[in-house]
Amino acid sequence: MKTRKNKRLVTECGEVKDLLAEHYHNVFQELVISTNLSNLHATLCNYQGFEYRVHGFPKLFKSSLVNEMVPLDKGPINVGLQEFTSICMEHCGESLRSCYKKLTIKQIISVVYQVLLSLAAAEATFEYEHRDLHLGNIMVRSTKNPTVHFVVASREYKVDTEGKRAFIIDNTFARMRIGSHHYYTNLTDRLATLARDAKNPNKVQSDQDKIYVGMYYSACGNWAKWMPRTNLEWMSFIIHRFLKNVQLNKDGDDRFAAELEALHHQIKSCKTLKSVLNSIDKK
Ligand SMILES: Nc1ncnc2c1ncn2[C@@H]1O[C@H](COP(=O)(O)OP(=O)(O)OP(=O)(O)O)[C@@H](O)[C@H]1O
Ligand SMILES: [Mg+2]
Repeated sequence: MKTRKNKRLVTECGEVKDLLAEHYHNVFQELVISTNLSNLHATLCNYQGFEYRVHGFPKLFKSSLVNEMVPLDKGPINVGLQEFTSICMEHCGESLRSCYKKLTIKQIISVVYQVLLSLAAAEATFEYEHRDLHLGNIMVRSTKNPTVHFVVASREYKVDTEGKRAFIIDNTFARMRIGSHHYYTNLTDRLATLARDAKNPNKVQSDQDKIYVGMYYSACGNWAKWMPRTNLEWMSFIIHRFLKNVQLNKDGDDRFAAELEALHHQIKSCKTLKSVLNSIDKK
């Protein structure tokens, strides 16, 4: 049964945000995915016996289905009973899109590693793909902790926070496998126009649109399919955006810009995030 539902988000501080109207199935899969990612704050073992513990996804505290009078956009009656999902989660600060120009290059590198390690752990434990990792879906919050520890494939990584914690949010497009069950959203209809535009030489597409189009053609309608390249494409997109826009010499030290460029190169040449981490580990 497909019923229109509203996804509504309640953050820790009690702020309520109206989000996209979604089909029940999509909201449910998003909730399952977000809950499992939240569980990665505690140590998790994958089927090969490797340990994972990462802190780059918001902690979920509570979720519930609510039936409440809400304002309606259509029809003569302007309020009505409507069901929506309420998700109470950790407040993760402001979006990278709105703040990245204020960050130092060291903070940017810290954010990139926090996102990379979290994504790599989720990829290895759940064959997770985010599929929509633009700068609006990465949140950044100030912290007094100088370091944050991650465990990926039983290896410990200590990341200097430089005063910032990074979080990946919004699993509306995401995909995950738990045992034999696949959780995903069918994106064919949503991305069809972009995919058509890609064939029109008069239409100019952004780098972000090109990733959606790439996903559309890789999936060929089968969105349950495991396509680990999508995580790499989004990581590459994020770093490229930083390399293009941030004044990389702001801290007066080119080494950090070179580090980011080297990581970008590495990501472009690897097939999974696991192999990116392996190549970093070897150095
Ligand atoms: N854990 C969080 N902490 C703080 N703000 C959050 C959190 N989760 C979501 N938000 C805010 O709510 C906005 C929308 O959430 P989300 O990205 O999950 O939904 P969406 O369906 O993509 O909506 P939109 O189309 O507005 O991006 C985010 O852009 C962010 O500003
Ligand atoms: Mg979003």
